[in-house]
Amino acid sequence: MIAKVRKAVFPAAGLGTRFLPATKAQPKEMLPLVDKPLIQYGVEEAMQSGVQNIIIVTGRGKTAIEDHFDVSFELEHLLETRCKKDLLATVRAVSDMIDVSYVRQKEALGLGHAVLRARELVADEPFSVILSDDVIDSEVPCLRQLLDVYEFYSAPVVALMEVPPDAISAYGVVDAEPVAHPGGQNRLYRIRNMVEKPKPADAPSNLAIIGRYVLTPEVFRSLDSVEPGSGGEIQLTDGLKHLLRSRPIYGYRFEGTRYDAGDKLGFLKATVEFALKRYDLGEAFRSYLKTLKL
Ligand code: UTP
Repeated sequence: MIAKVRKAVFPAAGLGTRFLPATKAQPKEMLPLVDKPLIQYGVEEAMQSGVQNIIIVTGRGKTAIEDHFDVSFELEHLLETRCKKDLLATVRAVSDMIDVSYVRQKEALGLGHAVLRARELVADEPFSVILSDDVIDSEVPCLRQLLDVYEFYSAPVVALMEVPPDAISAYGVVDAEPVAHPGGQNRLYRIRNMVEKPKPADAPSNLAIIGRYVLTPEVFRSLDSVEPGSGGEIQLTDGLKHLLRSRPIYGYRFEGTRYDAGDKLGFLKATVEFALKRYDLGEAFRSYLKTLKL
């Protein structure tokens, strides 16, 4: 029987330089979309996908993440005495939400290095990786879509997205062949190769890897064998390329909309779209936007 994916690793130790100065003393993962930090969207996606065990890879200056998922006695007491029942429920829901463990990445030596730091907590079982600055709005949670493929093929799966040529060099890009998959609607690929941040002319396709992965524990051995690249960084794509030599890896062009909330324009787009969808804000916000002379 195929091992169930119980754990989700959240690398959150990057420097977030694209969001400076906001990220000087505050982790990027705590920037709010409307009123919820980015990382909470990711954690909710994991829970809704049936993955309960959360492992967050943190770095320097990231204590706000730990505080966010912890109980805040003072705040709860204050809300209780002021009879703010709704707010109290919202605050409690966050700390009740997850079983969470933390591990530190002392230096930001790349996404692959951050995933390696979770090795002991993951142990010898399949696991998922969620990059919380990729916020995905979809009917079926993106991670759940990948898990369905994993459960069918018992092999690692990465999320893919079509990207236009002028943006492709910001991503890991796959060379892949389509695979017929029951109910898959031409979304499934078997990956032949991957290239990290290619020039548009060198990109093997328009399919980019985005921040959702279901991986098997052999990836740790692959990451171990990866030589650090520029800046001493270990890239996850290089680890996956190494793993490809011994195992098939699938890519799934997920259904949904992905926002790159680690980038200012992507963050603004997500903020507007999420605010418009809110039952308590959407109408007023829409009316306001209509008054703007654009
Ligand atoms: P990014 O490529 O967005 O890098 O990382 P970054 O440092 O967070 O942000 P910029 O580019 O400087 O603005 C993708 C994900 O990998 C994590 C980040 O926290 C983010 O979730 N990461 C990256 C680590 O955990 N450790 C690293 O060494 C690098």
